[in-house]
Amino acid sequence: MPEQNDHNVLSNHSNGPEEDNLELTLRPQWLSEYIGQEKIKHELQVYIDAAKKREEALDHVLLYGPPGLGKTTLAMVIAREMGVNIKTTSGPAIEKPGDLVALLNELKPGDVLFIDEIHRLPKVVEEMLYSAMEDFYIDIVVGEGPTSHPVHFPLPPFTLIGATTRAGMLSAPLRDRFGIIEHMNYYNQDELTQIIFRSAQIFNTKIDDEGAKELALRSRGTPRIANRLLKRVRDFAQVAGQSTIDLPVVQRSLKLLAVDDRGLDEVDRKLLLTMINYYHGGPVGLKTIAANIGEETSTIEEMYEPYLLQIGYLTRTARGRVVTAAGYQHLGIPYPEER
Ligand SMILES: Nc1ncnc2c1ncn2[C@@H]1O[C@H](COP(=O)(O)OP(=O)(O)OP(=O)(O)O)[C@@H](O)[C@H]1O
Ligand SMILES: [Mg+2]
Repeated sequence: MPEQNDHNVLSNHSNGPEEDNLELTLRPQWLSEYIGQEKIKHELQVYIDAAKKREEALDHVLLYGPPGLGKTTLAMVIAREMGVNIKTTSGPAIEKPGDLVALLNELKPGDVLFIDEIHRLPKVVEEMLYSAMEDFYIDIVVGEGPTSHPVHFPLPPFTLIGATTRAGMLSAPLRDRFGIIEHMNYYNQDELTQIIFRSAQIFNTKIDDEGAKELALRSRGTPRIANRLLKRVRDFAQVAGQSTIDLPVVQRSLKLLAVDDRGLDEVDRKLLLTMINYYHGGPVGLKTIAANIGEETSTIEEMYEPYLLQIGYLTRTARGRVVTAAGYQHLGIPYPEER
């Protein structure tokens, strides 16, 4: 995933070791602690129980959905529920077949190999995964030149968990090898409120009902953003000498952070305003939007657009993106009669 802007508080990536440690303690450990995604949890519970009863490795799992919704967390929860070890890596980190062999070589029967950003695996590595996933073996070529020869390398049964923000970028043969495919959805306000209360407790911070609900509403349906905003709001409350985070503190701090009442940040607003001011609200192509606002097309596609589509401020047509009446209304701009 491309670099995020550092100035952006909604930046969906962790910053430095302190925040990383906090992320670890914030992660739910068991399915029962994992808030929301009810359908996915229910299904996984069945598959996990069944695999455990049969004393088999869980079938391979593909998790896809926008960043920050808890894919990595869920992969760790699955391994814990199965009672197995998890090895974590990412698509771009596995550069050559040898890297994959080294990873697979460390797995014990039933273990989980978690590959984040699995859509970014190099093709040669991906092709090696096919037999590894399907029949638990790999064929590798040992040596060079005339002495080189293939070696058949059996593997213990294992579970591959792949995570991606772009299921559409996965090749069909890879996709087809996942027995369990789960689409992660944005969280509703209720679920996010629960997540915020849980995190506040871990931070030893008090937040009242109204404050938590408001924060939830402005977290773009995303737990990672909810946690990040909670940390910032907690700082503001602390400096103001307030022991409990309440609605006014939330409102004041989010105003300073330029997060509006639907959780949109400056980039979201710039995107919509550019489309409205220069392209009559669309249709506009993704590349044109990206060039205008100085973001990568992939950042827009993976981070900004999905939420704007979800809340109905943007739609996608064959000819490009279009700002909806609701999008105009949110920005306080009259919706053009003739389009
Ligand atoms: N269901 C949940 N309940 C409570 N906290 C959650 C939940 N899901 C995610 N979180 C918290 O949100 C944060 C982000 O989760 P995680 O890193 O698993 O997201 P991700 O989907 O892997 O993101 P990315 O696509 O960027 O890798 C973590 O701090 C995690 O603790
Ligand atoms: Mg992740």
